[in-house]
Amino acid sequence: MSYSASSEFTDLVSAKLALIEDELGRQAGADTPFVTEAANHIISAGGKRFRPLLVVLCSQFGDAVNDADLVRAAVVMELTHVASLYHDDVMDEASRRRGAPSANLRWGNSVAIMVGDYLFSKASLAVAELGVDFVKLQARTFSRLVQGQIAETRGPSQGQDPLAHYLKVVADKTGSLIAASRRSRSEERR
Ligand code: FPP
Ligand code: MG
Repeated sequence: MSYSASSEFTDLVSAKLALIEDELGRQAGADTPFVTEAANHIISAGGKRFRPLLVVLCSQFGDAVNDADLVRAAVVMELTHVASLYHDDVMDEASRRRGAPSANLRWGNSVAIMVGDYLFSKASLAVAELGVDFVKLQARTFSRLVQGQIAETRGPSQGQDPLAHYLKVVADKTGSLIAASRRSRSEERR
């Protein structure tokens, strides 16, 4: 690929990521200034936006995807990820997330858990707009993610190979959502 072609591609990806960023902020809006602030806290603290990036990159393969659906899919993945981080920081008693004070440190465990739930509800609402296949993908992914987290919390069972347990934990709690982020083609969602 020539330099100018690669620069054009970078511009295209950056433009889509900018649309996604705007929508993420909008989706984290709530009925009260407090929930809006708390729900935006970890989103605006930064993050790599790896899952949205994967959605954008995969959208370049196969049939064209319209921007509205692309943005929605990317937002669903990032909101689910961020929601899980609110919960994870409670479980890990973490004091920092993305370089900022964690939500649990700022507002306590109960608020952090409920803000995670709030963001997850917004992801659920957005995924409904994408149709049943996407809802199923999201639900199956979430089921794996949570089971991965439970398996990590409980540790390997007696006689289980600790490395195999660890690899399954990371595949389920982290890999599942990353894998879902690249499954933007309709035929792969089932
Ligand atoms: C980071 O792990 C956390 C995850 C990959 C997901 C954890 C999932 C849950 C807590 C369930 C979420 C439930 C709802 C309802 C949204 P880590 O602690 O290994 O990584 P870290 O260093 O980034 O904290
Ligand atoms: Mg953690």
